[in-house]
Amino acid sequence: MQQFQWYPGHMTKAKRAMQDDIKLVDMVIELVDARVPQASRNPDIDKLSQGKARVIILNKADLADERQNQAWKAYFEKQGCHVLALDARVRGSVKRVLDLIGEAGKAKLERDRKRGIRNRPIRAMVAGIPNVGKSTFINSIAGKAAAKTGNKPGVTRGNQWIKLNKSVELLDTPGILWPKFEDQTVGLHLALIGSIRDDIMNTTELACALILFLNDNYKGLLEQRYALDAFEVSTVVEAAAVMEKIAVYRHCLSKGGTADIDKAAALVLDDFRSGRLGRISLEKPECSADTHGVE
Ligand code: G4P
Repeated sequence: MQQFQWYPGHMTKAKRAMQDDIKLVDMVIELVDARVPQASRNPDIDKLSQGKARVIILNKADLADERQNQAWKAYFEKQGCHVLALDARVRGSVKRVLDLIGEAGKAKLERDRKRGIRNRPIRAMVAGIPNVGKSTFINSIAGKAAAKTGNKPGVTRGNQWIKLNKSVELLDTPGILWPKFEDQTVGLHLALIGSIRDDIMNTTELACALILFLNDNYKGLLEQRYALDAFEVSTVVEAAAVMEKIAVYRHCLSKGGTADIDKAAALVLDDFRSGRLGRISLEKPECSADTHGVE
C-alpha cells in the first residue's frame, strides 16, 4: 500500500498543475474513495471545476457498504454530478464508465452542435487525491499502456490524449488533488483507510477509533472475525481491552507472552483496509456537511 506524505511544496505544485490542466478539458472525472467520499474530496474542487461537466467515481466501492454507496450516489447526483460506484480494478466496467462519460458530455456536444461545431471530442481529465485509484482507473478504461504513473505532484506532464472512443479523449496523466488537511476528522479517516500517513495518531489509537466506530455502526463484524463474545464499548480504554482479546486470539504476543496490542492494532487496520472485516463505509451523506462518522 502506498502512503503519501504531503509537504507545502507538493500542494503548491499540485495546485498549479491542476489549474493548468483543467483549462484543457471540458470534463473532470473526480475519483473519491467510496468509504470516505467526504474526506477524500478536495476542498477546492468545486471552484476548480466550475463550468466543466462533472463525473464522480465512488471508487473502491467493493470495500464500502452498498447502502452507503447508493446514498452517496444520490447525494452527489443532487448536486448535478454524474455518479458511478466502481471497483476500478475490474475491466468489465469500462462500458458503464464510458456510458456515464457520454451522458455527462451530452450538454457540451449539444452546445457545440448549436454553434455549428461538429466532431470535436469531449476532453476529460481524471483527478483525485493520492491512492484513490486514479492510475488503476485510467489503466482499466484506456488499456494497460495508458497511465504511466510518476504519480507525484509536480512531475513533468506529457499532456498526451488517450482516445477512449469517437467522442471522448482523456488526458493521460491524472490530476493530483490534495485533501482538506486542516480538518482532523479528514486526517483520521484518511489515516484509517491507509491513504495518507498521519502523525496525529498512532496505530493503536487509530484501531481504537475504528473499534468504537464499528461498535456503533457495524455491530458483529469484529465478533465474527475474531471469535469474540458480543461486546459493547464506549471508551478508548474499553476498545483497548477488545484489542487485547484480539491479540490473544490471533497470537499477537510480545516476548514475555503478554498481549501485543500494537501488533493487534496493525492487524485490525489491515483487515479493515483490505475488506476482510466486511464492506464498511466510514461516512454517511446525511452527516457529511460538517461532521463525519468516526469522531
Ligand atoms: P492513485 O493512482 O490514485 O494513486 O492510485 P492507484 O491506482 O495506484 O491505486 C492505489 C491502490 O488502490 C492500489 O493498491 C490499487 O490496486 C487499489 N485500487 C484501485 N482501485 C481499487 C478499487 O476499486 N477497489 C479496490 N479494492 N482497490 C483498488 P495497492 O495496494 O497500492 O497495490 P496492489 O496491491 O494493487 O498492487
